[in-house]
Amino acid sequence: MRYCAHRNLTPGTNRLFLMTTPLIRIDHASKTFALPDGGAFHAVRDVSLEVNAGDIFGLIGKSGAGKSTLLRLFNLLERPDSGRVFVDGRELTALSKRELRDARSNIGMIFQQFNLLQNATVFDNVAFPLRIHGGHTPAQITARVNQCLELVELSGKAANYPAQLSGGQKQRVAIARALASGPAVMLCDEPTSALDAETTRALLATLRDINRRLNVTIVIVSHELSVLGEICNRVAVIEDGAIAEQFALDDAASLAEPRKTALGRELAQHGAASALAANTVNTEAAYV
Ligand SMILES: Nc1ncnc2c1ncn2[C@@H]1O[C@H](COP(=O)(O)OP(=O)(O)O)[C@@H](O)[C@H]1O
Ligand SMILES: [Mg+2]
Repeated sequence: MRYCAHRNLTPGTNRLFLMTTPLIRIDHASKTFALPDGGAFHAVRDVSLEVNAGDIFGLIGKSGAGKSTLLRLFNLLERPDSGRVFVDGRELTALSKRELRDARSNIGMIFQQFNLLQNATVFDNVAFPLRIHGGHTPAQITARVNQCLELVELSGKAANYPAQLSGGQKQRVAIARALASGPAVMLCDEPTSALDAETTRALLATLRDINRRLNVTIVIVSHELSVLGEICNRVAVIEDGAIAEQFALDDAASLAEPRKTALGRELAQHGAASALAANTVNTEAAYV
Protein backbone atom coordinates (compact mmCIF):
# COMPACT_ATOMS: atom_id res chain seq x y z
CA MET A 1 0.00 0.00 0.00
CA ARG A 2 1.30 3.45 -0.86
CA TYR A 3 1.89 5.73 2.10
CA CYS A 4 -0.99 7.97 1.10
CA ALA A 5 -3.55 5.24 0.48
CA HIS A 6 -5.36 5.68 3.76
CA ARG A 7 -4.81 8.72 5.79
CA ASN A 8 -5.46 8.86 9.47
CA LEU A 9 -7.97 11.63 10.00
CA THR A 10 -7.09 12.00 13.66
CA PRO A 11 -5.61 15.44 14.29
CA GLY A 12 -2.07 15.42 15.61
CA THR A 13 -1.05 12.28 13.76
CA ASN A 14 -0.07 13.99 10.54
CA ARG A 15 1.72 12.00 7.94
CA LEU A 16 5.11 12.92 6.59
CA PHE A 17 5.28 14.93 3.41
CA LEU A 18 7.72 14.29 0.62
CA MET A 19 9.19 17.77 0.61
CA THR A 20 11.55 17.44 -2.32
CA THR A 21 9.00 17.26 -5.14
CA PRO A 22 5.75 19.20 -5.52
CA LEU A 23 2.62 17.24 -4.63
CA ILE A 24 0.90 18.41 -7.82
CA ARG A 25 2.56 19.29 -11.11
CA ILE A 26 0.76 20.47 -14.21
CA ASP A 27 3.14 20.39 -17.14
CA HIS A 28 2.30 22.42 -20.27
CA ALA A 29 -1.40 21.52 -20.18
CA SER A 30 -3.83 22.79 -22.81
CA LYS A 31 -7.56 22.18 -23.26
CA THR A 32 -9.64 23.12 -26.27
CA PHE A 33 -13.41 22.75 -26.62
CA ALA A 34 -15.03 22.16 -29.98
CA LEU A 35 -17.66 24.79 -30.77
CA PRO A 36 -20.95 24.05 -32.58
CA ASP A 37 -19.86 26.25 -35.52
CA GLY A 38 -16.86 23.97 -36.08
CA GLY A 39 -14.42 26.34 -34.40
CA ALA A 40 -12.37 25.70 -31.29
CA PHE A 41 -12.25 27.50 -27.95
CA HIS A 42 -8.95 27.44 -26.04
CA ALA A 43 -10.09 27.25 -22.40
CA VAL A 44 -6.64 26.37 -20.97
CA ARG A 45 -3.47 27.51 -22.75
CA ASP A 46 -0.13 25.89 -22.01
CA VAL A 47 -0.42 26.03 -18.22
CA SER A 48 2.44 24.79 -16.05
CA LEU A 49 2.24 25.05 -12.28
CA GLU A 50 3.34 23.31 -9.13
CA VAL A 51 1.56 22.96 -5.81
CA ASN A 52 3.58 21.92 -2.78
CA ALA A 53 2.39 19.57 -0.08
CA GLY A 54 0.65 21.58 2.63
CA ASP A 55 -0.20 24.53 0.34
CA ILE A 56 -3.52 26.28 0.12
CA PHE A 57 -3.14 27.30 -3.51
CA GLY A 58 -5.62 29.76 -5.00
CA LEU A 59 -6.69 30.18 -8.63
CA ILE A 60 -8.33 33.54 -9.17
CA GLY A 61 -9.72 35.15 -12.28
CA LYS A 62 -12.81 36.62 -13.86
CA SER A 63 -15.78 34.51 -14.84
CA GLY A 64 -14.94 32.60 -18.03
CA ALA A 65 -11.16 32.86 -17.48
CA GLY A 66 -10.83 29.06 -17.43
CA LYS A 67 -10.46 28.43 -13.69
CA SER A 68 -12.93 25.54 -13.44
CA THR A 69 -11.58 23.88 -16.57
CA LEU A 70 -8.04 24.17 -15.21
CA LEU A 71 -9.08 22.76 -11.82
CA ARG A 72 -10.82 19.83 -13.52
CA LEU A 73 -7.50 18.96 -15.17
CA PHE A 74 -6.05 18.30 -11.69
CA ASN A 75 -8.11 15.11 -11.32
CA LEU A 76 -8.67 14.55 -15.03
CA LEU A 77 -12.41 15.29 -14.92
CA GLU A 78 -11.24 17.09 -18.07
CA ARG A 79 -8.44 15.40 -19.95
CA PRO A 80 -5.93 17.86 -21.42
CA ASP A 81 -5.40 17.76 -25.20
CA SER A 82 -1.70 18.04 -24.49
CA GLY A 83 0.49 18.21 -21.42
CA ARG A 84 0.82 16.07 -18.33
CA VAL A 85 -0.67 15.99 -14.83
CA PHE A 86 1.17 14.55 -11.82
CA VAL A 87 -0.41 14.11 -8.38
CA ASP A 88 1.35 12.60 -5.40
CA GLY A 89 4.00 10.87 -7.47
CA ARG A 90 1.72 9.45 -10.19
CA GLU A 91 1.26 10.72 -13.72
CA LEU A 92 -2.52 10.76 -14.01
CA THR A 93 -2.34 11.36 -17.76
CA ALA A 94 -0.56 8.00 -18.16
CA LEU A 95 -2.96 5.84 -16.10
CA SER A 96 -5.52 3.30 -17.27
CA LYS A 97 -9.20 3.87 -16.35
CA ARG A 98 -8.96 1.52 -13.39
CA GLU A 99 -5.71 3.06 -12.14
CA LEU A 100 -7.21 6.52 -12.52
CA ARG A 101 -10.22 5.54 -10.40
CA ASP A 102 -7.83 4.43 -7.70
CA ALA A 103 -5.70 7.58 -7.99
CA ARG A 104 -8.81 9.78 -7.74
CA SER A 105 -9.56 8.48 -4.25
CA ASN A 106 -6.48 10.50 -3.29
CA ILE A 107 -8.12 13.70 -4.63
CA GLY A 108 -11.33 15.01 -3.05
CA MET A 109 -13.42 17.70 -4.73
CA ILE A 110 -16.15 20.12 -3.68
CA PHE A 111 -18.29 22.42 -5.82
CA GLN A 112 -20.20 25.69 -5.59
CA GLN A 113 -23.57 23.91 -5.71
CA PHE A 114 -22.48 21.14 -3.28
CA ASN A 115 -23.54 18.30 -5.67
CA LEU A 116 -25.03 16.12 -2.91
CA LEU A 117 -27.29 13.15 -3.60
CA GLN A 118 -30.70 14.60 -2.72
CA ASN A 119 -32.37 11.24 -2.03
CA ALA A 120 -29.64 10.02 0.30
CA THR A 121 -29.09 10.91 3.95
CA VAL A 122 -26.06 12.85 5.10
CA PHE A 123 -24.55 9.56 6.29
CA ASP A 124 -25.11 7.86 2.92
CA ASN A 125 -23.73 10.85 1.01
CA VAL A 126 -20.47 10.64 2.96
CA ALA A 127 -20.41 6.83 2.72
CA PHE A 128 -20.94 6.93 -1.06
CA PRO A 129 -17.29 7.11 -2.20
CA LEU A 130 -16.29 4.37 0.25
CA ARG A 131 -19.06 2.07 -1.00
CA ILE A 132 -18.33 2.55 -4.69
CA HIS A 133 -14.61 2.15 -4.18
CA GLY A 134 -15.13 -1.11 -2.29
CA GLY A 135 -12.76 -2.84 0.10
CA HIS A 136 -14.40 -1.59 3.30
CA THR A 137 -16.56 -3.50 5.77
CA PRO A 138 -19.83 -1.86 6.89
CA ALA A 139 -18.25 -1.31 10.32
CA GLN A 140 -15.24 0.46 8.76
CA ILE A 141 -17.56 2.63 6.67
CA THR A 142 -19.63 3.60 9.71
CA ALA A 143 -16.52 4.48 11.69
CA ARG A 144 -15.04 6.52 8.85
CA VAL A 145 -18.27 8.41 8.08
CA ASN A 146 -18.76 9.27 11.74
CA GLN A 147 -15.16 10.47 11.98
CA CYS A 148 -15.59 12.70 8.92
CA LEU A 149 -18.91 14.12 10.14
CA GLU A 150 -17.32 14.90 13.48
CA LEU A 151 -14.52 16.78 11.71
CA VAL A 152 -17.03 19.10 10.04
CA GLU A 153 -19.16 19.29 13.20
CA LEU A 154 -22.21 17.61 11.71
CA SER A 155 -22.42 14.48 13.83
CA GLY A 156 -25.99 15.30 14.82
CA LYS A 157 -27.18 15.48 11.19
CA ALA A 158 -26.26 11.99 9.94
CA ALA A 159 -29.89 10.96 9.40
CA ASN A 160 -30.98 14.23 7.74
CA TYR A 161 -31.49 14.73 4.02
CA PRO A 162 -29.73 17.57 2.15
CA ALA A 163 -32.99 19.52 1.76
CA GLN A 164 -33.15 19.76 5.56
CA LEU A 165 -29.76 21.51 5.79
CA SER A 166 -28.55 25.10 5.37
CA GLY A 167 -26.14 25.96 2.55
CA GLY A 168 -23.16 25.99 4.90
CA GLN A 169 -24.14 22.60 6.33
CA LYS A 170 -24.54 21.16 2.81
CA GLN A 171 -21.04 22.32 1.90
CA ARG A 172 -19.68 20.74 5.10
CA VAL A 173 -21.33 17.44 4.11
CA ALA A 174 -19.59 17.77 0.75
CA ILE A 175 -16.28 18.35 2.56
CA ALA A 176 -16.86 15.26 4.74
CA ARG A 177 -17.60 13.24 1.58
CA ALA A 178 -14.44 14.58 -0.09
CA LEU A 179 -12.40 13.56 2.97
CA ALA A 180 -13.92 10.10 3.35
CA SER A 181 -11.29 8.28 1.31
CA GLY A 182 -8.43 10.06 3.11
CA PRO A 183 -7.21 12.18 0.20
CA ALA A 184 -3.89 14.05 0.05
CA VAL A 185 -5.51 16.79 -2.04
CA MET A 186 -8.82 18.60 -1.96
CA LEU A 187 -9.97 20.61 -4.99
CA CYS A 188 -12.52 23.35 -4.26
CA ASP A 189 -14.40 25.07 -7.10
CA GLU A 190 -15.98 28.30 -5.80
CA PRO A 191 -16.83 26.57 -2.51
CA THR A 192 -18.26 29.68 -0.85
CA SER A 193 -19.90 31.45 -3.80
CA ALA A 194 -23.39 30.24 -2.82
CA LEU A 195 -22.93 31.19 0.84
CA ASP A 196 -23.41 34.40 2.84
CA ALA A 197 -20.46 36.27 4.33
CA GLU A 198 -20.66 34.80 7.82
CA THR A 199 -21.08 31.22 6.57
CA THR A 200 -18.20 31.83 4.16
CA ARG A 201 -15.90 32.79 7.05
CA ALA A 202 -16.87 29.65 8.99
CA LEU A 203 -16.35 27.43 5.96
CA LEU A 204 -12.94 28.95 5.22
CA ALA A 205 -11.97 28.30 8.85
CA THR A 206 -13.00 24.64 8.36
CA LEU A 207 -10.87 24.38 5.20
CA ARG A 208 -7.89 25.97 6.96
CA ASP A 209 -8.32 23.55 9.84
CA ILE A 210 -8.39 20.56 7.47
CA ASN A 211 -5.24 21.83 5.78
CA ARG A 212 -3.35 22.41 9.02
CA ARG A 213 -4.51 19.55 11.21
CA LEU A 214 -4.82 16.84 8.56
CA ASN A 215 -2.18 18.21 6.17
CA VAL A 216 -4.56 18.03 3.23
CA THR A 217 -3.22 20.15 0.37
CA ILE A 218 -5.96 22.43 -0.98
CA VAL A 219 -6.42 24.01 -4.41
CA ILE A 220 -9.22 26.55 -4.35
CA VAL A 221 -10.81 28.40 -7.26
CA SER A 222 -12.61 31.65 -6.62
CA HIS A 223 -13.46 34.91 -8.30
CA GLU A 224 -13.56 36.50 -4.84
CA LEU A 225 -10.36 38.18 -3.75
CA SER A 226 -11.33 38.22 -0.08
CA VAL A 227 -11.79 34.43 -0.04
CA LEU A 228 -8.36 33.65 -1.48
CA GLY A 229 -6.65 36.47 0.44
CA GLU A 230 -8.04 34.97 3.62
CA ILE A 231 -6.64 31.46 3.37
CA CYS A 232 -4.12 30.97 0.54
CA ASN A 233 -0.36 30.92 0.87
CA ARG A 234 0.11 30.97 -2.94
CA VAL A 235 -2.07 32.28 -5.74
CA ALA A 236 -2.14 32.22 -9.51
CA VAL A 237 -4.07 34.80 -11.53
CA ILE A 238 -5.80 33.21 -14.54
CA GLU A 239 -6.55 35.31 -17.63
CA ASP A 240 -7.81 33.87 -20.93
CA GLY A 241 -6.92 30.32 -19.94
CA ALA A 242 -3.31 31.13 -19.03
CA ILE A 243 -1.43 32.00 -15.85
CA ALA A 244 -0.89 35.76 -15.93
CA GLU A 245 1.21 35.63 -12.76
CA GLN A 246 1.65 33.64 -9.57
CA PHE A 247 3.16 34.53 -6.23
CA ALA A 248 3.32 33.75 -2.53
CA LEU A 249 0.98 35.57 -0.14
CA ASP A 250 2.92 34.51 2.93
CA ASP A 251 6.26 35.96 1.87
CA ALA A 252 7.06 39.66 2.36
CA ALA A 253 9.64 39.75 -0.46
CA SER A 254 7.18 38.23 -2.91
CA LEU A 255 4.44 40.64 -1.83
CA ALA A 256 6.77 43.59 -2.39
CA GLU A 257 7.52 42.66 -6.02
CA PRO A 258 5.68 44.62 -8.72
CA ARG A 259 2.57 42.75 -9.93
CA LYS A 260 1.44 42.35 -13.53
CA THR A 261 -2.33 42.24 -13.04
CA ALA A 262 -4.91 44.32 -11.21
CA LEU A 263 -6.13 41.22 -9.33
CA GLY A 264 -2.54 40.40 -8.38
CA ARG A 265 -1.99 43.93 -7.03
CA GLU A 266 -5.17 43.79 -4.97
CA LEU A 267 -4.32 40.34 -3.60
CA ALA A 268 -0.79 41.44 -2.70
CA GLN A 269 -2.21 44.48 -0.86
CA HIS A 270 -4.64 42.21 0.96
CA GLY A 271 -1.76 39.87 1.91
CA ALA A 272 0.43 42.74 3.10
CA ALA A 273 -2.44 44.14 5.19
CA SER A 274 -3.07 40.72 6.77
CA ALA A 275 0.64 40.32 7.59
CA LEU A 276 0.67 43.78 9.17
CA ALA A 277 -2.40 42.93 11.24
CA ALA A 278 -0.84 39.65 12.36
CA ASN A 279 2.37 41.47 13.37
CA THR A 280 0.41 44.07 15.27
CA VAL A 281 -1.41 41.35 17.19
CA ASN A 282 1.92 39.62 17.94
CA THR A 283 3.50 42.88 19.08
CA GLU A 284 0.51 43.66 21.26
CA ALA A 285 0.62 40.16 22.70
CA ALA A 286 4.25 40.76 23.71
CA TYR A 287 3.18 43.72 25.87
CA VAL A 288 0.31 41.97 27.65
N1 LIG B 1 -17.67 21.84 -22.24
C1 LIG B 1 -17.43 23.05 -22.79
N2 LIG B 1 -17.64 23.29 -24.10
C2 LIG B 1 -17.37 24.49 -24.66
N3 LIG B 1 -16.87 25.55 -23.97
C3 LIG B 1 -16.64 25.37 -22.65
C4 LIG B 1 -16.91 24.13 -21.99
N4 LIG B 1 -16.57 24.28 -20.67
C5 LIG B 1 -16.13 25.54 -20.54
N5 LIG B 1 -16.18 26.19 -21.73
C6 LIG B 1 -15.76 27.59 -21.97
O1 LIG B 1 -14.44 27.74 -21.47
C7 LIG B 1 -14.31 29.01 -20.86
C8 LIG B 1 -13.78 28.84 -19.46
O2 LIG B 1 -14.79 28.23 -18.68
P1 LIG B 1 -14.58 27.93 -17.14
O3 LIG B 1 -13.37 27.10 -16.99
O4 LIG B 1 -15.85 27.38 -16.62
O5 LIG B 1 -14.29 29.40 -16.58
P2 LIG B 1 -14.38 29.96 -15.09
O6 LIG B 1 -14.47 28.82 -14.15
O7 LIG B 1 -13.11 30.77 -14.93
O8 LIG B 1 -15.57 30.85 -15.05
C9 LIG B 1 -15.66 29.67 -20.91
O9 LIG B 1 -15.68 30.61 -21.97
C10 LIG B 1 -16.62 28.55 -21.17
O10 LIG B 1 -17.72 28.98 -21.90
MG1 LIG C 1 -15.93 28.27 -12.77
